[in-house]
Amino acid sequence: MANEKVSTSGPAIQQMVDPIEGLVGKLKFHENAFPSFTKSLIHGETKYITWDFSEAKFKTLELLQITDVQWGHICCKRERVIEYRDWVLTKPNRYMIWTGDNIDSATMQSKGTTWENTGTPQQQLFEFVKLWAPARHRILGYVGGNHERRCLTTFGDLGITIAALLRIPYSRGKQLIDIKFGKHEPFQISQWHGVGGARTFGTVAQVLMRFASEGDSQLYLMGHLHKPMIIPFWKERRGVNGIRSVKTIAALGSSFLENWGSYGEVAGYTAGDVLMPRCVLDVDGGWEVTLR
Ligand SMILES: [Fe+2]
Repeated sequence: MANEKVSTSGPAIQQMVDPIEGLVGKLKFHENAFPSFTKSLIHGETKYITWDFSEAKFKTLELLQITDVQWGHICCKRERVIEYRDWVLTKPNRYMIWTGDNIDSATMQSKGTTWENTGTPQQQLFEFVKLWAPARHRILGYVGGNHERRCLTTFGDLGITIAALLRIPYSRGKQLIDIKFGKHEPFQISQWHGVGGARTFGTVAQVLMRFASEGDSQLYLMGHLHKPMIIPFWKERRGVNGIRSVKTIAALGSSFLENWGSYGEVAGYTAGDVLMPRCVLDVDGGWEVTLR
């Protein structure tokens, strides 16, 4: 059985273990340490936001992508999710950008089966919110994926509910983030969940590069395709001193799913491990992207 391959701790959640009235009320949220300003709000969704870290005392700012957790799938590597959350919380200069498919949320109308889930979408949602509540103040932005949208025809986009409970900026499509930090005035990021069923390096890169060719961001973050990748390139821009080459990096995180024994194996995804893009901004204006 697939779930015998996953070294998760504790039993699968079949029923909510907390009293209903306490699901959110008991959660301890931390307030944001730095201010943010919404620059574009459409239908209540945050499409463009600025975070101001100019008063920060740290010398580097680390931005970790978290994507395709699919919490609630029996093959979700739950202990790895907790590991990444706790790694962020270890240092005050670590923040996150979420790019969707946070919960698996299979319904009877989904392509997948509900037998591969540990509970209902609602149970997964509350469990996920409880899991991330201690780190909600480290989440700079969140774009929903197709798994958040699995309940669209019956309930609505679950990403809206997750974001509303955690009080974090959400968009079901794209989101643009400006980060003011040191000489980055600002550092520009675009994120989007991604689409399609690309499997090969070439086709995955095509989807990522099409997204990265739009807009004027320096960093582009995408998920969905479960194939970790970093593509550096330059964009031509007119500047006061002639033509500028703007360093740009497109990056894609893998997922928190065990491939063997899950639909990923059946669908032809490559087996692998968790690798999430991490962008480090130096206070002097330098920056780099690695996979963690
Ligand atoms: Fe996806």
